[in-house]
Amino acid sequence: MHVAHLSLADFRSYARAEVPLDPGVTVFVGPNGHGKTNLVEAVGYLATLGSHRVASDAPLVRLGAERSVVRAQVVHGDRQQLVELEINPGRANRARINRSSQVRPRDVLGILRSVLFAPEDLALVKGDPGERRRFLDDLATARTPRLAGVRADYERVLKQRNTLLKSAALARRHGSRAAAGPGGRTGGADLSTLDVWDQHLARAGAELLAQRLDLVAALQPMADKAYDQLAPGGGPVGLEYRGSIGDERMAGATGREDLYGRLLEALGEARKQEIERGVTLVGPHRDDLVLKLGPLPAKGYASHGESWSYALALRLASYELLCSDGREPVLVLDDVFAELDSRRRERLAELVAPGEQVLVTAAVDDDVPGVLVGTRFAVQDGTVERA
Ligand SMILES: Nc1ncnc2c1ncn2[C@@H]1O[C@H](COP(=O)(O)OP(=O)(O)OP(=O)(O)O)[C@@H](O)[C@H]1O
Ligand SMILES: [Mg+2]
Repeated sequence: MHVAHLSLADFRSYARAEVPLDPGVTVFVGPNGHGKTNLVEAVGYLATLGSHRVASDAPLVRLGAERSVVRAQVVHGDRQQLVELEINPGRANRARINRSSQVRPRDVLGILRSVLFAPEDLALVKGDPGERRRFLDDLATARTPRLAGVRADYERVLKQRNTLLKSAALARRHGSRAAAGPGGRTGGADLSTLDVWDQHLARAGAELLAQRLDLVAALQPMADKAYDQLAPGGGPVGLEYRGSIGDERMAGATGREDLYGRLLEALGEARKQEIERGVTLVGPHRDDLVLKLGPLPAKGYASHGESWSYALALRLASYELLCSDGREPVLVLDDVFAELDSRRRERLAELVAPGEQVLVTAAVDDDVPGVLVGTRFAVQDGTVERA
């Protein structure tokens, strides 16, 4: 697929931008801080409903404006769809497809698929488990948009369950332990509902977990191959899912029903500790994906260059996986070439060059390898002009 037109209104530094795009390679070149990343960030936002740079929406809205609108004409085969998102920080975002009446933002997921490479990707390897969970969940959602609803359910249940546990923990600490009566009331927090919350959490959690496990299994050979293409002989790469329910309980888990049972069991076991600490201790929100390079985990062991290659390999594997589902995503390479040595630069460029649409940003033209010839746009002082 490709984006044929991108429009921004009050997005980041842009009051307005209208950018007609072609399939093939497009390179945005311009000085630091002039708005190159802002453009491709908008593409990523339409694909994932999130930014690769910030966790909240507020920074996406132009200073002084109330809301942003990002819009893209997406072409897939002989199908064209216009997707539009209105970003309202602190309030619900709004979405439209083909200018029709409003749909939920999550209904636009899956129309535009993209894989975005950026310097921030280093955090996939070196950062907290949350970075890797988001990587897995975003990719799983790109494959199965329905998962956005499951993720929202899980977050909601988790929040409510945590509130319940927290008030129970507070009550305990304030010495009202004696108040825990037969109904399970612990100083004001009605713990008798905890069983129901456990079931809700395990239900959504099992679905999320099943998708993640499928995804990791599918990604593993692709990530290994991609790493070898970028850094021949440097692997092997191993992706190991580490569940908070424990390795033993994770072993041999298959399918949603099975995982549901295992999660419930683990919640049952953790309950005493959870009531003491006032927080949910098991579930997909506490899991990690351990990235192994050879026998060692990349985090804490791999060199800077190896970590970079690893992050790129994960993105390349994501690209291959989405292609294998039959819908090739738009590739976005934000400022990645400047970070790479010349050999890896060439290899990466060769691997992405055949993509249906490749959007590249660079501050220096010479950083972009020669195989990525294509349309050039100059980005300067908030204007985007075909060079
Ligand atoms: N919400 C906002 N309102 C106004 N300006 C913003 C907003 N968010 C970011 N900016 C401005 O946008 C500019 C950054 O743009 P961007 O990150 O796209 O630069 P870039 O061209 O990619 O630069 P580099 O080459 O350094 O990566 C900064 O000057 C920043 O102040
Ligand atoms: Mg940039």
